[in-house]
Amino acid sequence: MSSFRYRPEILEGVPEHLTRNLKQFEDWFLLEAAELKKITEHFVKELEKGLTIEGAVPSLDSIQPMNVTWVRSNPSGRESGRFLTLDMGGTNLRICDVTLSEQKRDFEQTQRKFKLPKEVKSGTAEELWDFVADRLQAFLKENPTGSQDNIPVPLAFTFSFPVDQQNIRSGVLQRWTKKFNVSGVEGEDVVPQLEAALARKNIPVDVVALINDTTGTLIASHYRDPHVKVGSIFSTGTNAAYMEECRLVPKLKDYGLPEDAKVIINTEYGAFDNDRQILPFTPFDHQIDSESLRPGTQLYEKMVSGLYIGEMLRLVMIKLHEEGILFQDKDITRLRQNYAIDATFLSIAEMDISEGLDAMREEFEDDFSFSPTVDEMKVCRYLIGLIATRAARLYACGIAAICKKNNTKKCHVGVDGSVFNNYSGFKDRASQGLRDILDWPVGEIDLIALNASEDGSGVGAALAASLALNKVEQIKTTIL
Ligand code: BGC
Repeated sequence: MSSFRYRPEILEGVPEHLTRNLKQFEDWFLLEAAELKKITEHFVKELEKGLTIEGAVPSLDSIQPMNVTWVRSNPSGRESGRFLTLDMGGTNLRICDVTLSEQKRDFEQTQRKFKLPKEVKSGTAEELWDFVADRLQAFLKENPTGSQDNIPVPLAFTFSFPVDQQNIRSGVLQRWTKKFNVSGVEGEDVVPQLEAALARKNIPVDVVALINDTTGTLIASHYRDPHVKVGSIFSTGTNAAYMEECRLVPKLKDYGLPEDAKVIINTEYGAFDNDRQILPFTPFDHQIDSESLRPGTQLYEKMVSGLYIGEMLRLVMIKLHEEGILFQDKDITRLRQNYAIDATFLSIAEMDISEGLDAMREEFEDDFSFSPTVDEMKVCRYLIGLIATRAARLYACGIAAICKKNNTKKCHVGVDGSVFNNYSGFKDRASQGLRDILDWPVGEIDLIALNASEDGSGVGAALAASLALNKVEQIKTTIL
């Protein structure tokens, strides 16, 4: 039986004219254990299906990519060397200079973050790669690598989008996700594009590994804690990666890999249920999808991740405004703008324990230039709880599905991403979701524990580069 219950104490004392239409939102957003279990069962089948179907095919939109990353082992903890890492995520470009020390599980790093401007995210391939190369050049000016005789420094590139890889040094972009829409990159290998921009500026680096942020998170968290079996991101987007046995990946059958070979699979499970078989879509989900850059794609991600939960709240608030309930005498022009709310707004509002909800009011005043009544804000707080709880419980389905598929009953999951790390309450809600799906005995600790992980794109990427270089060394030694 589900122990899940949403507790709307926040609504106590709020007048009836503000709460009368709220029942419909509970019907839309509350997901009981039985529903989560059904979604998870379907999720397991889709993960399995994705392992059978080869890479970037036109029908991909309805299939979970389950991309083979060619990272074939976990780090031993004794990796060493100096690496540059470049991380192009949803919001920032992060550059790190990482030195892995010979001493087990130790490293030093210097990093710098650059915001990725909106124009760059929707410009041309050349503009994007030139932007990246310029920032790398600026970073190297401040942090010279001291590389002798112009020997290129090895660089690992964390590219947080779905790519079809034939090896770890290349990757054809299957499709842009989040709010990226750069022309001339989909269907192309991103590594030569980046290399061409680096060459134009004479930047002496050698791209030795292309990885996903989930792969980096898995590697970095496993480096510190060998009980980690899944690496996941909960941020602008959402996704997870895990280590799979190659013999269980039918699409690898012609690659002649050894019987006991393993490989990290980047599930790209944001694409789960693109064929709308099981997820409980609400009218708001349909609207978010149809108004997005690529309708019909990343449907699970659009219900769960940080980029979309703010938009969900905005659509819900507008609906209640139009039903004559919220903000009746207010000018809500600024709230009408698409994506005017981000996940931070929800997190600040939920953390506000002041009687007058002062922090929440400040957010409304700063972002939308109007000040709601305390009762109106209580209604919004209630709605935020519903939306964020649904996101966390749906997120739990993806993690539970990976563990079920692999018959993993107990493990740690390394989770990175601004929303996971900064949205207090998210982890507990997701853990409760896992408990409901997996029926852990009452009083049992979290058997699948979601643990905050950082540095996937720094240390994780550097380790991936080191593993990739070792592989090349091993191949050379075997040939000689
Ligand atoms: C991308 C994934 C990425 C995730 C988290 C998704 O939109 O498709 O590759 O791992 O976002 O950044």
